[in-house]
Formats: sequence, C-alpha cells, structure tokens
Amino acid sequence: MSMLEVSGVVKRFGGLAALNGVELSVRGGELVGIIGPNGAGKTTLVNVVMGVYYPDSGRITFDGRDITRMPPHRRARMGLSRTYQVPRPFNDLKVIDNVAVAAMYGSKDLPVGEAREIAEDLLRRVRLAERAEDYPESLSVVELRKLELARALAQEAKLVFLDEVSAGLVGEDLREVLSVVRELHEGGMTIVMIEHVMKVIFNLAERIVVMMNGQKLAEGTPSEVSSDARVVESYLGKRWSEV
Ligand SMILES: Nc1ncnc2c1ncn2[C@@H]1O[C@H](COP(=O)(O)OP(=O)(O)O)[C@@H](O)[C@H]1O
Ligand SMILES: [Mg+2]
Repeated sequence: MSMLEVSGVVKRFGGLAALNGVELSVRGGELVGIIGPNGAGKTTLVNVVMGVYYPDSGRITFDGRDITRMPPHRRARMGLSRTYQVPRPFNDLKVIDNVAVAAMYGSKDLPVGEAREIAEDLLRRVRLAERAEDYPESLSVVELRKLELARALAQEAKLVFLDEVSAGLVGEDLREVLSVVRELHEGGMTIVMIEHVMKVIFNLAERIVVMMNGQKLAEGTPSEVSSDARVVESYLGKRWSEV
C-alpha cells in the first residue's frame, strides 16, 4: 500500500489552476523525483500535501488516513515534512538550536536536552556536525541546505519533500548534497525530491514524475521518462530538462 496517495487534486488561484487533477503515489522507503518547468505546480503540490492550502477538489491520504482537510500541525505530527525552496533558518539561534527547535515542534513535550541530542544526531547525518555551535549567517549555501534538511527531518519525518534542495549548487557542493540525500534514503527515509533538471536526479530517483501545467505528464524510471515521446515533444529545445 502507498504511504502517500494524491488523487485528482485541483488547486486554483483565482482563474489559474495551479494543480489540475494531480495524481501521485509514493510507497514507504521510495525515492521519487518530480521534475517540471517553472510554474508546473510542483511547490503547490507540496503545499497542498503539507496543508498550507486545502485543495478545491481531490483527495490526499497518508499512512492510510484521509488528510485532505487535516490542519498542517497534525500532518507534521504524522510524519510529513518538507524543506523550503528558500531556506528559512532562525538567524538568532545557533545551528544546533535551529534543529532542536524543529524537533520540539514535531514532538510535544520533548525536553530541551533530548531535543539537542536528536539535533546532534541529525547534524551528523547531514554532515554538518562541525557547524553545530555556529550561527546560520556564517553558513555557506550548501551548509544552509543541509541545515534545512536537518530541520525537516527533526520533526520525526516519515516522508520528506525536498523542494529544489540542489538549486544553484554545482560541482562538489552539488555532489555533497546529493550524497547526503542518498544516505538518508539508504537509511530508510521516504523522499520526494523536486528538481528542475532531470540529470540531477537521474542517478538517484527510482521513479520520476514529470509535471506540467498542474498535471502529471509522464511517469516512470529515469530512462523511461527521458525517452518518453510526450516528454521529449513537450520539452524539446527547452533547457530546464536537458532530456
Ligand atoms: N499563493 C499563490 N497565489 C497565486 N498564484 C500562485 C500561488 N502559488 C503559486 N501560484 C501560481 O501557481 C503556479 C504554479 O506555481 P508553483 O507551484 O510555485 O510552480 P513550480 O514550483 O512548479 O515552479 C504558478 O503559475 C504560480 O504563479
Ligand atoms: Mg517551486
């Protein structure tokens, strides 16, 4: 059975259907990639699953429960989590406390000491332990992305959406973030990774969903999707996918 099931979800902003009947199914332990051009509805899909917006129609289930109209904090407590496209750390808190605060939000009545222990462990997992006592403003872009990841995971995540976690990274920084994601996946985390460029997730995702105009255009293994006639036809000559 799927861990997350999104069916027929529509979300309108005024006259614009940002999501126009989206289908998405994610099994526990999977690493699924979602790609699509700017404006395809990828972030809106994350927002609707997290409860930032309720859909106009359609249904979302998580862990066998209908969460379509469940408040966001209850979804978070069920283990749904996400990173933001633009990192949002608390700048007046040390790195470790940024993660500890996230752990305390995810788990009611967690003592501060335990939250800090959880945070230390997570900072090791995302390879940021050596920056624990520093403030976010001193972090590089790649370190901020790792902090964002640790914060998302701190809320006892079962499934985490990574919204363009590699954006703007190249070379060693890009490889570093992708290997952290790979390690989290190998550790059993269910991950939905939103990316702009297919080649970033080609070697990482087991399955790729291609979104366009608020709908699923195609779905399959990375090689199936990159040779899919509809995908090639829609994106031929467009730089974002490099298919
Ligand atoms: N809060 C909002 N209010 C109005 N329009 C929005 C809002 N959020 C997203 N949109 C619109 O919905 C469409 C999909 O946006 P988004 O989900 O951010 O796409 P993506 O993440 O794939 O680039 C875009 O046309 C965007 O301008
Ligand atoms: Mg987006």
